[in-house]
Amino acid sequence: MGSSGPGLDPELARAVPGGVLVVDFGAQYAQLIARRIRECRVFSAVVPHDMDPERIAALHPKGLVLSGGPASVYEEGAPALNPRLLELGVPVLGICYGMQSMAQVLGGDVARTGAAEFGKTPLEILVRDGLMRDVPMEQCWMSHRDAVVATPPGFTATARTTHAPVAAMEDASRRLYGVQFHPEVVHTPFGTDLLKAFLFDACHCAPTWTPVQVIEDQVARIQAQVGDERVICALSGGVDSAVAALLVHRAVGDRLTCIFVDHGMLRMNEGEQVEDAFGNYFHVPLIHVRAQDHFLSALAGITEPEEKRKIIGREFIRTFEQEATKLGGVNFLVQGTLYSDVIESGSRDASKIKSHHNVGGLPDDIAVDLVEPLRQLFKDEVRVVGEELGLPERMVWRQPFPGPGLAIRIIGEVTAERLEILRRADFVLQEEIRRAGLYRDLWQSFAVLPAVKSVGVQGDERTYAYPIVIRAVTSDDAMTADWARLPHELLEQISNRIINEVAGVNRVVLDITSKPPGTIEWE
Ligand code: XMP
Repeated sequence: MGSSGPGLDPELARAVPGGVLVVDFGAQYAQLIARRIRECRVFSAVVPHDMDPERIAALHPKGLVLSGGPASVYEEGAPALNPRLLELGVPVLGICYGMQSMAQVLGGDVARTGAAEFGKTPLEILVRDGLMRDVPMEQCWMSHRDAVVATPPGFTATARTTHAPVAAMEDASRRLYGVQFHPEVVHTPFGTDLLKAFLFDACHCAPTWTPVQVIEDQVARIQAQVGDERVICALSGGVDSAVAALLVHRAVGDRLTCIFVDHGMLRMNEGEQVEDAFGNYFHVPLIHVRAQDHFLSALAGITEPEEKRKIIGREFIRTFEQEATKLGGVNFLVQGTLYSDVIESGSRDASKIKSHHNVGGLPDDIAVDLVEPLRQLFKDEVRVVGEELGLPERMVWRQPFPGPGLAIRIIGEVTAERLEILRRADFVLQEEIRRAGLYRDLWQSFAVLPAVKSVGVQGDERTYAYPIVIRAVTSDDAMTADWARLPHELLEQISNRIINEVAGVNRVVLDITSKPPGTIEWE
């Protein structure tokens, strides 16, 4: 095993000196902290809480952050803090569970006070010094049941709330810090200032890391990995595969060929946008497979959503493999794996790390090595890199779009006629959402075509036609979502235009379901 140890691949490990490691006591919290640290231009990566402290020391971080987590320090099997982590000679900041486990290990008292705090909570600063010196916090975001009720020897309580007598604490001589609240969430005003105080005043980090630096690193790394061989990449129209492809193209030029399997379930003009950007603008060798007819025949008569997904997945791989075989002599395949995929693939045991196939579900047994130039980056950082590489705004900021595309937004059978109705309605909706300046505020906005018809009247004629459902949601990660409160005038405009411009539609309805209980997609 390399010096990085389980949970951190060597490529990420190379970036750690000068950066700060987040010790993970509960995955979703740790990721967000790492993202916030990176926003301060300090490199950050996530390591599992049970990683050998000597291996952590060997990575030479400038500081450690112990993340929050869902457990109680008194629970059986709760993730334990290895005290050695507090003796590595670098500053340590414990957040929530991280602070409680620090207090427990160093001889403080953690208790279930009986009064939990969740959400926005008034905060009183007791000592305007150390991390709190220049952070004028009066409020913080809390999520805890247990609380530190007595600081460990050597520590001073620097802030409190009604139910957390130690809402922040520090031992300046040992450079150990703790906060009960969550500075990483946007609901803690001045949370980023507190993180900055830790990064720059306590750890003496330099704000020099940017996602754009990754471009140079990755170009060199890809050149070393690929040598004189040839590479293929499956383009989907999405930002990850597009940015990955452009990075590889910058590294190996025309030895990269992109294969764009256009299954015909894309939105209006999306195929042309990929062709324009890659083929005409960046001059990346591009094979554009127009396979709508093939996919439509494969989907004929199919109404069950999972069956649709399976068929599209299978035909996608077949088509891709046929094109790849025609090329011959290709040894590398580009994948748009992101850092969040890497963390979620299981950082606990390197032997269990799977490579994450997030491009339309490519086969596991394809006999090529993977090139994954985005393994270090979070999604928002990929967008920054995409902009820097000159990718068009529409591709960089595209809302997530499912691999099976419009097929899972057409309830019931997918036919050429129904596809056309949905594509036109969706085009109107996208255009109006963009015009209203809301596109980037929404996680997703799209049209759905149900399998029912209803009666209407247009001109003097009775119509019997499809409704279109408007679905627009806000979300941070697609795990939960809320329906977007679109302005009534906008809804009116969308409704009028769809009914006037899209033949076969006589009614527009709005989906006002959050997730849960609904899902974002209808199938
Ligand atoms: P749901 O509908 O489960 O969707 O709330 C959550 C997110 O996943 C996307 N999604 C898919 N993406 N293939 C994909 O690549 C799929 O089969 C698929 N189904 C849902 C969906 O658009 C949303 O962002």
